Amino acid sequence: MVPPEPRRERSYAHMSPTGTTKIPDVARALQNEPLSQRRDDGWWRHAVVYQVYPRSFADGNGDGLGDLRGITEHLDHLNDGTPSSLGVDAIWLSPIYPSPDFDFGYDVADYLDVDPRFGTLADFTAFVSASHDRGLKVILDLVLNHTSHLHPWFEASRSSRDGPYADWYIWRDSPGRSLTGRRRRPNNWRSWFRGPAWTWDETRKQFYMHTFLPEQPDLNWRNPDVRAALMNVVRTWLERGVDGFRLDVFNVYFKDAMLRSNPLAIGRRGAWSWQRHVHDRDQPELADALLEMRALVDSYGGKMTVGELFDNSVVAAAAHVAPHHLIFDWLLLTTPWSASRFRAAIAAREVAFGPDRWPANVLSNHDQSRHATRFAKDGVSVAEGDARAKVAAAMLLTLRGAAFMYYGEELGMRDIVVANSQAFDPPARRASFLFPWWNRDQSRAPMSWRGGPGGGFTTGRPWLPVSPDVSDRNVARQSAEPDSVLSFYRRLIWLRRETPVLGEGGQEVIEVGDDDVLAYARRLGDSSALVLLNFASRSARVQVPPAASGRGWRIAASTHEHDAAAGALGPTLTLGPLEAIVALDA
Ligand code: NOJ
Repeated sequence: MVPPEPRRERSYAHMSPTGTTKIPDVARALQNEPLSQRRDDGWWRHAVVYQVYPRSFADGNGDGLGDLRGITEHLDHLNDGTPSSLGVDAIWLSPIYPSPDFDFGYDVADYLDVDPRFGTLADFTAFVSASHDRGLKVILDLVLNHTSHLHPWFEASRSSRDGPYADWYIWRDSPGRSLTGRRRRPNNWRSWFRGPAWTWDETRKQFYMHTFLPEQPDLNWRNPDVRAALMNVVRTWLERGVDGFRLDVFNVYFKDAMLRSNPLAIGRRGAWSWQRHVHDRDQPELADALLEMRALVDSYGGKMTVGELFDNSVVAAAAHVAPHHLIFDWLLLTTPWSASRFRAAIAAREVAFGPDRWPANVLSNHDQSRHATRFAKDGVSVAEGDARAKVAAAMLLTLRGAAFMYYGEELGMRDIVVANSQAFDPPARRASFLFPWWNRDQSRAPMSWRGGPGGGFTTGRPWLPVSPDVSDRNVARQSAEPDSVLSFYRRLIWLRRETPVLGEGGQEVIEVGDDDVLAYARRLGDSSALVLLNFASRSARVQVPPAASGRGWRIAASTHEHDAAAGALGPTLTLGPLEAIVALDA
């Protein structure tokens, strides 16, 4: 989730005055080991992870909501072991736990079970083993900053000031009444989902704190019992065979011990941006808690986590990275369609991450407008939008780092339009002039499997409308079209699987003589790759740097046709409009 105040981070370009930076090879230890023969403890580095929003992926029982059975039935799309599937390495499931859905699963009422609408624990076990049979790892979404207000821990906590759960959440007395008789709140903290971060509870006659909705009370991570209970959650799912976790807003777990008010700031995005968030997140105690969690995860071997940083700072993101523990920073996801903007973003990330920290690359997720929509604003035609989606895919899948995809992006799926007045997304229902909010339903439309009513997603009434272009843009149709966005994703992901330099290599951004062309080289031992991405809708003449091996380049994947002889690249090359080329040393 990307909080506002991007202005501070917009100045990232200062970190790399030239806009390019040379990064040495980071994968020395793995250099001479072919991917296929490796004991794959490094899968978290070269992985392509596919995010499934369970409500929207595939409905196995016809009730209009996606479920585990539906996901299991569609695993062949993700990886059936052949290049006619996507070939991804892992699935990240957005929350599947019982939830009253005030924030669509991100308000958990029981960490150890499966919501009956998604299936049962037995369905989960079947899903994990079917995934593992296909070589797919399973990553669960852990929402450990807050629970649902209907979680039994919170119900017990609110019921008594001195019961065993009394201190499991962040409770405070009101410091008194204002002149108008209103109960004053413990401090000035705000909820990211609008309004104050404190809600009065009539039973306990105290305020409780919530970074998000009042229906999502924040847990008290300073209480050792809470920490032990949460570590038990982590352990239980590891025992059930999962391979990793995505940690929802992990840097918010701890708040200032004295609950001091945040200093005020000038911001242009509503009340949240009118303070500096120095006391309601990023506290020093976080480091120790993360170490404990990492030690637990690492004790199982071959597992990973990816943390969702609730902040825009790429420097802060990089600071939290550790082996097997990735962090989402949001620089790529907030960069508009421009080669020079991406060049600067990539350079800034490389400076922040340095050679030893491994990035997580992402262009779309369940909180943001889909990138095929973002990159095709202002009257861009459907065909051109698809061409841009392919260039973006080439970038996502060849940049240094683990690649995270969002379901449907392999089709170039666009946002649907849902007015705030029709929204399910709770903050969208609370939107106002002072609280502008992009309705997240719009990027959560049912997966487009085939044409026709329900789009192959459901035989019932889908919980959100299927995409209006479902009959043209769907898995069945694009599977049969060699030039489709889907076919391009498949080619690239399989190329990445078979080419260690794309999964593991170091990276150097290079200038090729045209500002609209983003170019970089990857290097691993004595193999290299060259990526040329023309962001412009005109052709571009570029200089091709010599391959370090001295052997020259051959095209391994391209959005455009090349005859066999042209497979070998000369010292100059004309890229077609919106052409992406991935070349390997011959
Ligand atoms: C981040 C999640 O990505 C988002 O969907 C959710 O609303 C918030 N955390 C609150 O849990």
